[in-house]
Amino acid sequence: MSAVASAPGKVILVGEHFVVENEPAIAVAINLRARVRATKVEGEGVEVRSRELGLAQVFRGDEPRSSPLYPVYFAAKVTMEYIGVESPLRVEVFSDIPPASGMGSSAAVAVATVAAVAKALGVKLAEDEISRLAYRAEEIVHGKPSGIDNTISTYGGAIAYRKTEGFLRLEADFSPIRLVLADSGLPRSTGEMVARVRRLKAKYPRVFEPLYHAAGRLAIEAGKAIEAGNFRALGELMNVNHGLLSAIGVSNEVLERLVYRAREAGALGAKITGAGGGGFIVALCEKGSEERVAKALREVSSRVFVVDVSGEGVRYEE
Ligand code: PMV
Repeated sequence: MSAVASAPGKVILVGEHFVVENEPAIAVAINLRARVRATKVEGEGVEVRSRELGLAQVFRGDEPRSSPLYPVYFAAKVTMEYIGVESPLRVEVFSDIPPASGMGSSAAVAVATVAAVAKALGVKLAEDEISRLAYRAEEIVHGKPSGIDNTISTYGGAIAYRKTEGFLRLEADFSPIRLVLADSGLPRSTGEMVARVRRLKAKYPRVFEPLYHAAGRLAIEAGKAIEAGNFRALGELMNVNHGLLSAIGVSNEVLERLVYRAREAGALGAKITGAGGGGFIVALCEKGSEERVAKALREVSSRVFVVDVSGEGVRYEE
């Protein structure tokens, strides 16, 4: 028995890092997806294959967690424990989402793995079950993630997310805009960046408090702008958000250069997306201006993606 599920990557439009301390953040799903095929096999263990990483490994339970494929195995394992069905499996991952980019590739793979594994074993899970199980795999990758990635990848569309309150779906029409994403080419680790911000915040709590408060207010205003279709306001708020991210120490010269280049080329707003330190920036572009912005960014970035917001979350495929 074999089952295929897919789940979207995401872009955080506002609120990353601040969301870790329970401020609201807004994320959208994008039209880049991870696909996972889970197949019941003879033998033992869980064989994980990744087309993009060019890796394959059989897991029996005592392998080091540092293996790049371990989170996929872990997602399969927690799913089997949850549904109470254990079986040897092959889990194959095919993903359009660039890894370690801030576009939520690990969460999308985790979400699709949970859905595919459960279905291959005869159980169709509800979305909230899929999201919760995927969060467990995300903990392996990121330490203590806020949960925004697995949530947006499961439900799709646009969400406002707050750690202690869960998520709210934003009613929005994103057809007037496209997102341009440009790679800084610098490696980054979400866990390390979150820890770094936490250290600086602990050192200067009275300075950081108002910054976090401002970021929370900003996310609320951004949510209103999205629902009103006011993308000019959203762009301005994204620029302010970038300033706050710089203030808490997750920007650098390369990211700043990309952000300013996108703005100068006509983006409505541009900022780091995700953990920063490296990874990608996102530029919000009115349809028709995205190619100009992408062209300007290609002069300084080796990987530029033009993507659309996607309403679709996790889904089963034939
Ligand atoms: O994994 P990334 O780069 O999308 O970053 C996640 C966003 C953070 O707010 C930095 C961490 C989190 O757990 O929300």
